[in-house]
Amino acid sequence: MKAFRRIRKAIFPVAGLGTRFLPATKALPKEMLPVVDKPVIQYIVEEALAAGLTDIVFITGRGKEAIENHFDVSLELERILEERQELEKLQVVRDTSHMVHVAYVRQKVPQGLGHAVLCAAPFVDDDEPFAVFLGDDLIMADVPAIQPLIAWSQEVQAPVIGVQSVSQAEVSAYGVIDGVPVHAGVYRVRRLVEKPPTEAAPSRLAIIGRYVLHPDIFSYIEATPPDARGEIQLTDALQVWVQDDRPLYAIEIQGRRYDTGSKLGFLQANIELGLQHPDVGPALQAYLRTLLRRIQPE
Ligand code: UTP
Repeated sequence: MKAFRRIRKAIFPVAGLGTRFLPATKALPKEMLPVVDKPVIQYIVEEALAAGLTDIVFITGRGKEAIENHFDVSLELERILEERQELEKLQVVRDTSHMVHVAYVRQKVPQGLGHAVLCAAPFVDDDEPFAVFLGDDLIMADVPAIQPLIAWSQEVQAPVIGVQSVSQAEVSAYGVIDGVPVHAGVYRVRRLVEKPPTEAAPSRLAIIGRYVLHPDIFSYIEATPPDARGEIQLTDALQVWVQDDRPLYAIEIQGRRYDTGSKLGFLQANIELGLQHPDVGPALQAYLRTLLRRIQPE
């Protein structure tokens, strides 16, 4: 593996079907669902930018045009806001369209996360490590959640994946790692298992939606067979990578994570971020107090 040069590129696979959130996601990409007043994907793009990443590649699919439109210029909307002299709103609209340099790649059939990442291969140089952000995994932290992964990957010149501890009952919904601690909150990965039965899970450290990868992973993904659901899993490709004695590290990501592709995670994100929002926070808090008294009288 060649040296880990500076990372600029952020890959956003956003081509999944979002079946856990039907019917909301039948015509609307789950990544465009709003948390308070911004689509989920915008929070995650802002995280990438805050970590110094400059080039965004979206892996999109059928029905995901709203994501492209969101980050594009909307001349008509800008003109109307300008005419009405709604200058603050105009600025918000302009900021969103000037936020990123984007490239879009189409994943023609949603064949899994591994396959979606592989679609980015033509956009990545063969010595260019890159970050991957899952478009529905919202992480609110003091520093951008991807930042420690980037820093550690530069230090050890190796790929790094983000993990967080989940409850025993939840492990079977995630890829799970078996790792040797090398530092506080840092593990050298020995093994990865995608969605293990609870009793077979090697730990409670679940892989969450942040990765720093090396382009050598593409040939591993190409060689990965589809799983029982016909999806090519990134975790399976990484498992063969580790079996080949290639280095892989995991970092426990600090911060609050919301799986906004699930109904509960989405609601939690809206409540918690709503409480922090200057426009609606105080009123929402008062409302929640009243509501609690109503549903849980003393
Ligand atoms: P998920 O497994 O959460 O997405 O993938 P999904 O398949 O849309 O979810 P459900 O289970 O049907 O509700 C995590 C991220 O990877 C993307 C998704 O868009 C999401 O942001 N993804 C997943 C792809 O880009 N392509 C795929 O084939 C699968």
